[in-house]
Amino acid sequence: MNSEYEKTQLAAESVNAIEGIMGAFPGYRRAHAKGVSYKAVFTPNGQASSLTTAPHLQTAQIPAIVRFSNVAPDPTLSDALSPAKGLAVQFQLPNGEITNIVATTVPFFISKTPESFVSFLKALRSGKNGRPNLRALVKWLTKYPESCSVFRIWKELKPPLSFAQGRYHSIHAFYFVNQEGHRQAVKYILEPEAGEAAMSNLEAAGKPEDYFEQELENRLASDMVHFRLKVQLGKETDPTDDPTKEWPKERRVLMIGRLSIQKERAAGEELLFDPTVLPEGIKCSEDQILQFRRFAYEESYRRRSRNS
Ligand code: HEM
Repeated sequence: MNSEYEKTQLAAESVNAIEGIMGAFPGYRRAHAKGVSYKAVFTPNGQASSLTTAPHLQTAQIPAIVRFSNVAPDPTLSDALSPAKGLAVQFQLPNGEITNIVATTVPFFISKTPESFVSFLKALRSGKNGRPNLRALVKWLTKYPESCSVFRIWKELKPPLSFAQGRYHSIHAFYFVNQEGHRQAVKYILEPEAGEAAMSNLEAAGKPEDYFEQELENRLASDMVHFRLKVQLGKETDPTDDPTKEWPKERRVLMIGRLSIQKERAAGEELLFDPTVLPEGIKCSEDQILQFRRFAYEESYRRRSRNS
């Protein structure tokens, strides 16, 4: 799958397959449908300057918009039924450009290629009465053995105690490029200053429907919420094309800035947080899922913009 045309076709197929699972909700994102956005400021600390020429990662403070979300495509689903959470950040660069980091509380993805992800989505609904088709799922796992990471998600996934206490991962690798043209592979982590904490799915089930949004609103009423932006530095041997694989925990991690979220709401629902919109000094890795996301997000954006 190489051409733009093929990617656009598969993107429509992927969004159709997502709609096939829970339905289509006019006007909403086809994934991470329920979200809440705030204004923020980002203060880089200069630690990334020797690794990248990216304007927002030097020393000047800039405005940003953040959107916290539940992963589910159904915006009416209770927060508890959507244990994985998202944090999308749009940095507003001094020259008028934007760039995004789009991250989730799960540190890995279940597919290495868009084709694998689409066939997984289809298998989820191809059984009797729209139930998961076990035979198709086994066939899928046999064809894409790297996707056994899916078992870890089902086993380990717990909701954070608060949107402000989740640890969010870019999952994909990116390349930082410095003034001399040297390339360093990195993965982003947004680490909560309030401390990482989770609750059990049972505890989450006892919370009110809009618990996460309300809890954040209450927290922000008394103080800003901060995240440390960190990068994990990859070594030559670490895969940059496989989002199903985490890098070894012992890799060096560098704190490169602080994201401070304010209590003022932002109009984030109309935005498109595309993780491949990058300024000079940052490049996409070879990861096929990362490169495909632009096409899937544009398709979802087109559908929600025309209120279908
Ligand atoms: C082939 C793989 C993927 C597909 C087809 C897909 C699909 C989608 C779609 C359709 C949207 C809604 C876009 C919009 O209308 O603006 C979305 C949003 C989102 N996705 Fe993915 N996604 C994929 C991979 C990932 C991965 C690997 C991550 C992990 C970082 C991720 C995290 C998110 C987040 C956080 C949002 C919400 C962004 C926002 O707040 O606007 N997705 N995804």
